[in-house]
Amino acid sequence: MSYKNEIESNKVPEHVAIIMDGNGRWAQQRGNDRSFGHEHGVDAVRSVVEGAAEVGVKYMTLYAFSTENWNRPQGEVNALMALLVHAINEETETLDKNNVRFHTIGDTSSLPQEVQNRLNFIKNRLKDNTGLNLVIALSYSSKWEITQAVKQIAHDAKEGVIAPDEVNEQTISNYLNTADFPDPELMVRTSGEQRISNFLLWQLAYAELYFTPKLWPDFRKEDLFEAIYQYQQRERRFGKTSEQIQEKNA
Ligand code: FPP
Repeated sequence: MSYKNEIESNKVPEHVAIIMDGNGRWAQQRGNDRSFGHEHGVDAVRSVVEGAAEVGVKYMTLYAFSTENWNRPQGEVNALMALLVHAINEETETLDKNNVRFHTIGDTSSLPQEVQNRLNFIKNRLKDNTGLNLVIALSYSSKWEITQAVKQIAHDAKEGVIAPDEVNEQTISNYLNTADFPDPELMVRTSGEQRISNFLLWQLAYAELYFTPKLWPDFRKEDLFEAIYQYQQRERRFGKTSEQIQEKNA
């Protein structure tokens, strides 16, 4: 059975966020160094981006590099940065042909200049596309993002740009890196770990969480379709009762 055929097209999540985990273990299982796993992780990225576009997902956020990942061995960090530049160079044309727009969240100013240049290039090149919005989280952590937002809100309140009493949930969303994107309805994490790891803490408030033991380099679009199918079997209640939800859907 193909999960793609089982997906209800009117209930596809608008935004899917993914923690791509398990590259290191995948490589170690094959007696290779961790960077080999990251390289194969790009095949998984290609496949899920394609799959997301096929079923009509509008936003896909991929956690590619966390603030904490700077603490990894320098060789691995360098290899990941080089891989990013390489992947952008290789994939720009295909992404463009597939009408994909490209965004980043995170402290991209801390990335090597060459990576920043490539990111600006691809964002600009794909800016008029109207299909899937691909969002890559780079040097990102949710606590960092929320801290930045609080700082800016405090600053704007001091300057009289906003009134402290008028700060509400929407204000906070507007100050996050993700201000232009809807909150994810579905968050997928590979490799069997069941944690959020400082990823989109505010935005995932009502997301369905889906964990799979597959390691990221083995993950393909069919696995994404399965996650979306499983998501569609769940009842999203947003704090209401099951009866209230069923009445509304009747
Ligand atoms: C987590 O696995 C994965 C990463 C830290 C890097 C993810 C990066 C890519 C898939 C490459 C390129 C991305 C794009 C968007 C082109 P891990 O190393 O933590 O694995 P482990 O838990 O088994 O050690």
